[in-house]
Amino acid sequence: MGIIKIHDKNFKKSISEEEILQRVAAIAREIEADCKYQNPLFLPVLNGSFMFTSDLMKEIDMNCEMQFVKVKSYTGMHSTQQVKTLIGADMAVSGRTVIIIEDIVDTGATIKELVNQLHHLNPNEIKICSLLFKPTKYKGDLKVDYYGFEIPDDFVIGYGLDYNGLGRNLRHIYTVTE
Ligand code: IMP
Repeated sequence: MGIIKIHDKNFKKSISEEEILQRVAAIAREIEADCKYQNPLFLPVLNGSFMFTSDLMKEIDMNCEMQFVKVKSYTGMHSTQQVKTLIGADMAVSGRTVIIIEDIVDTGATIKELVNQLHHLNPNEIKICSLLFKPTKYKGDLKVDYYGFEIPDDFVIGYGLDYNGLGRNLRHIYTVTE
């Protein structure tokens, strides 16, 4: 039960949709408490954060704006740590509270590069929000301000995350079994 095969790997259900939605609601309350009157600008990172972003935005009860951005740092199951240029942050960022939304923070290379590039646009502050966080892999010194779950250093798919293109549509999160 709960085992699925994607490409050559088996994955086991590890976080249910119900658990995810509970944490998403809790994150929304934290963000509201911190940023209530700031009209924050959410910058969700495509593609992996689309499902998390959709559920999080529905929970957020305050004025806010959002603009999807895109970078790429992963092929297959290993981070290349080759982060490409930020695309899409064309809304006015200057003076704003900006909240980056990620699906997962792994080595931290992606958020480090994003934050470096965003600094050039003069935001008032930059916060980082990720559904998943792998603390044993993380090499960065930026604070992940909001996250849903700390997970071990295992490859996961579902709820927006993919393995070579497949698995993004799964409503639960699954962990590779081998
Ligand atoms: P980082 O730059 O090493 O922190 O990696 C961040 C990006 O790598 C995420 O936005 C994902 O696209 C991808 N990634 C990292 N770990 C996983 C995983 O376990 N499953 C799927 N994608 C992952």
